[in-house]
Amino acid sequence: MKRVLITGASSGIGYQLALDYAADGWHVTACGRNRAKLETLREKFSNMVLCEFDITDLAETRRALDGKSANLVILCAGTCEYLNHGVVEAEKVHRVMSANFSGPVNCLDVLLPQLAPGSRVALVGSTASLVPLPRAEAYGASKAALTYFARSLAQDLKRQQIAISLVQPGFVDTPLTRRNDFAMPMMINVGQASRYIRDGLAKGKAEFAFPRLFSIILRITSRLPNAIQRLLTQQIAR
Ligand SMILES: NC(=O)c1ccc[n+]([C@@H]2O[C@H](COP(=O)([O-])OP(=O)(O)OC[C@H]3O[C@@H](n4cnc5c(N)ncnc54)[C@H](OP(=O)(O)O)[C@@H]3O)[C@@H](O)[C@H]2O)c1
Repeated sequence: MKRVLITGASSGIGYQLALDYAADGWHVTACGRNRAKLETLREKFSNMVLCEFDITDLAETRRALDGKSANLVILCAGTCEYLNHGVVEAEKVHRVMSANFSGPVNCLDVLLPQLAPGSRVALVGSTASLVPLPRAEAYGASKAALTYFARSLAQDLKRQQIAISLVQPGFVDTPLTRRNDFAMPMMINVGQASRYIRDGLAKGKAEFAFPRLFSIILRITSRLPNAIQRLLTQQIAR
């Protein structure tokens, strides 16, 4: 039986991935902090193991993931907090960096030595790292750091035959984005996001972004001069 381990499985994209992989017959290790929400997964499927821990705490991550293995690991847990128009609150930035960058690094520290050759690890970044957006200093930087880390690690893990996939979603309707107070163009639902992710990983893609048109627009924008990028993103922010 194929085995997948998913962090962030207690909500949003990760929760939907856990449901869909379990329905497809995979053995799922569903990780998160919210025990009650994780329990709702196990009520639906018997091929589900729950794992409750905070990814920002290395000791807790070690205890929780020690001895765990899978053919596929999806590091999806993350958070988003926006700065208040140029007010740099260090604790807020550290919280976001800790969940979105240090958290996945903690999981990799424990899991990589436990994975067999032929395994794949997916890191969930964001299309937000493609273009600097107003108020997204912490979130964008955390995902840009994760992007660099994933691309670099992919080269180093080739010898061990462990593949890395970088997944860059656009806006997906989840509890995380329901907190946003601005327009979110081309937003998709968690079912669509899960489909994109499962298809991309099944095809063995090293990097993929979705929805396609949204990511193409952002990629084109990222190649424009900085002054034009700023004009465009400030229009969006308004
Ligand atoms: N939604 C979007 O539009 C979008 C776009 C691009 C990228 N993403 C990325 O996709 C991933 C999932 O986002 P989502 O929208 O599904 O968010 P979500 O509904 O808020 O779910 C976030 C998940 O991450 C877990 N998590 C957060 N901090 C954690 C910590 N310190 N330790 C352990 N687990 C932690 C949460 O666990 P608990 O609830 O149990 O605390 C929850 O399961 C994130 O990495 C996010 O940055 C989302």
